[in-house]
Amino acid sequence: MAARIEEMISEEAIDARIRELGRQITEDYKGKDLHLVCVLRGAVFFMCELAKRIELPVTFDFMSVSSYGSGTTSSGIVRIIKDLQDPLTGKDVIIIEDIIDSGRTLSFLYELFRTRGAASVRTCTLLDKPSRRDPGIHLQVDYKGFEVEDKFVIGWGMDYDQRYRNLPFIGVVTETDSQE
Ligand code: IMP
Ligand code: MG
Repeated sequence: MAARIEEMISEEAIDARIRELGRQITEDYKGKDLHLVCVLRGAVFFMCELAKRIELPVTFDFMSVSSYGSGTTSSGIVRIIKDLQDPLTGKDVIIIEDIIDSGRTLSFLYELFRTRGAASVRTCTLLDKPSRRDPGIHLQVDYKGFEVEDKFVIGWGMDYDQRYRNLPFIGVVTETDSQE
């Protein structure tokens, strides 16, 4: 597939914002056992960079869920593809996401983790598209990198049909080749 990509948020701006989030989380979780749960695959880059900016002995785990097919719209049903390795009992958890769109994925995980005995659960996302939120979803976003308008974004872990995750900036696909 050939696509035209425009930069929306630069690598420098993302790095700077992640440092701020790291400082804030470090303050908020002093003296606690902070456990980060990365939502695969999109949040991998964000979690790695954020974790390096948190000055606490954090632990990690990974979960994979799916609410999207290969296109750019949500199917609405969240399925667990890969579950956590370690129990959440007694842990202070932050769920790390790449982007919140309808909010279904994160609200599904939030509710699930609450039932698994975590001491606390908070949410952290690199990007949020609040205009896209499903009206039935009431989700508290505790830490947020940037709010973006309703455009399909790629890079920094986010994909279009599994491609472009490795772009070091956040971009928007402006044109795609229909000969795909
Ligand atoms: P939600 O469940 O509708 O909030 O969708 C969240 C998930 O959809 C994210 O974890 C992303 O994987 C994916 N997603 C939503 N919007 C975008 C986008 O603009 N680009 C890439 N992936 C997206
Ligand atoms: Mg995702």
